[in-house]
Amino acid sequence: NNIFSGLFVGQNLLTLKEVDSTNNFLKNLLTNSKPLPEGTVIMAEHQYAGRGQQQNKWVSQPGKNLTFSILFKPTFLNAVNQFDLTRTISVGVYDTLRTLLGDGLKIKWPNDIYYNDRKLGGMLIENMVQGNRINNSVVGIGLNINQGDFPEGIGNATSVKQILHKDYDLRLLLSEICSHIEAYYLHLKAGKIDLIRSSYLSRLYWLNEERTFRAGDEIFTGIIKGVADNGLLQVYRDGLTASYNLKEIEFLNK
Ligand code: BTN
Repeated sequence: NNIFSGLFVGQNLLTLKEVDSTNNFLKNLLTNSKPLPEGTVIMAEHQYAGRGQQQNKWVSQPGKNLTFSILFKPTFLNAVNQFDLTRTISVGVYDTLRTLLGDGLKIKWPNDIYYNDRKLGGMLIENMVQGNRINNSVVGIGLNINQGDFPEGIGNATSVKQILHKDYDLRLLLSEICSHIEAYYLHLKAGKIDLIRSSYLSRLYWLNEERTFRAGDEIFTGIIKGVADNGLLQVYRDGLTASYNLKEIEFLNK
């Protein structure tokens, strides 16, 4: 009764009742034990020290949501192109949820999943680089699925439950995410970079819209034109295109 229909992503699945962070757990396995097969998935029912991007915490109601990490070995990818892996994973997750949620679903640069201006999930991709190659990538994904409400202060969050008023089978959803990610990952591996980049771009939140941003102390209007090969956000403002990294720019709500 293996519901994981792909070739390798999710074929080696470990489900934990409780862990600090599935990313930490997978990284510890890599440093302490024998080599793990590519596509190994560590899933947790509860993370008590889940981590997000930029040193944020990732808090998720136990048993309600998806919190998991996938091991990839993208040795074919040059470290300067690591954002292509981010694109690959983002579109895989996006396409799975798109069939459930329809319009309104977007990828917010660099790798958040948004539904109508609210955050449905995100990812924390930790690459282990040797020389100029990525030999291991720990792809951590957190998605709000069956959580009905969120604590004060996480006002920007939403869940599939809040949108569709139904519960979803987490394991089934995980298996679907794994097969979508695997399909895109195989495209990446086959060198179909244009497909990966254009798929990512066409799903991007605020693309080609006049919006407000903050960079440092400055608030300005600009238009997202795309994402550079290296992952920097390209914003057209004051007659030219400026590039930003994650620390440098913030999206301001209307
Ligand atoms: C973000 O939006 O800032 C990224 C959130 C990533 C959360 C996932 S949950 C599974 C994996 N383990 C972690 O500690 N973090 C990621």
